[in-house]
Amino acid sequence: MRLFKQLAVVFAVLAVAAMAGLLFTFDVIKINWNSFMEIQPSFRAAESPLPVPARSVPVEGPAYVFDQAGNVIVPDNPVKADETSIARGAIFYDINCKMCHGPEGNGKGPLAAFLVEVKPADLTSALVTNQADGELFLTLTNGKGMMPYFVENLSVRDRWDVVNFIRTLEPAQ
Ligand code: HEC
Repeated sequence: MRLFKQLAVVFAVLAVAAMAGLLFTFDVIKINWNSFMEIQPSFRAAESPLPVPARSVPVEGPAYVFDQAGNVIVPDNPVKADETSIARGAIFYDINCKMCHGPEGNGKGPLAAFLVEVKPADLTSALVTNQADGELFLTLTNGKGMMPYFVENLSVRDRWDVVNFIRTLEPAQ
């Protein structure tokens, strides 16, 4: 009989200890142990980055500089239209633009047939040649209407090279 009582006491003590343990196991009582490095504020792949701070200027040059009223200032072309720049621009044009705007820039690339509602612009037309380099640069950066944007595919320098290249395209006779 004594043995039975002693056993009951041991089991009671063990049960209380186990119950107390379960309170922590199932987070009834939660302790924030700092045990995992991955539990911290961080950005995952493909998660939107933080917006740039107001009035900051990209290190690669002013792609988006705003005036006091919040309008985008059209940037000046900082890249001289020399042989290197035009040769680089031609390469990027072949890869990124030719399929829509065509090898001569007249807007008759092989993909143009599939663009039913809005055809690619003729890059040798006054619509384009009358625009400042900076306006074309902003079109490449941000897109325009049905024209896709290239801010992710072409660096700032690459976009200026493409602008310098499309200046060399001659209208068909
Ligand atoms: C998927 C096809 C496509 C590709 C690729 C493409 N464009 Fe365009 N682009 C268009 C279309 C369509 C328009 C007409 C947009 C509109 O009027 O809505 C256009 C318009 C333009 C314009 C005139 C914008 C204006 O002021 O109206 C320029 C300049 C231009 N593209 C340059 C380029 C350059 C340079 C590239 C390569 C870096 C390029 N495009 C790649 C389809 C394309």
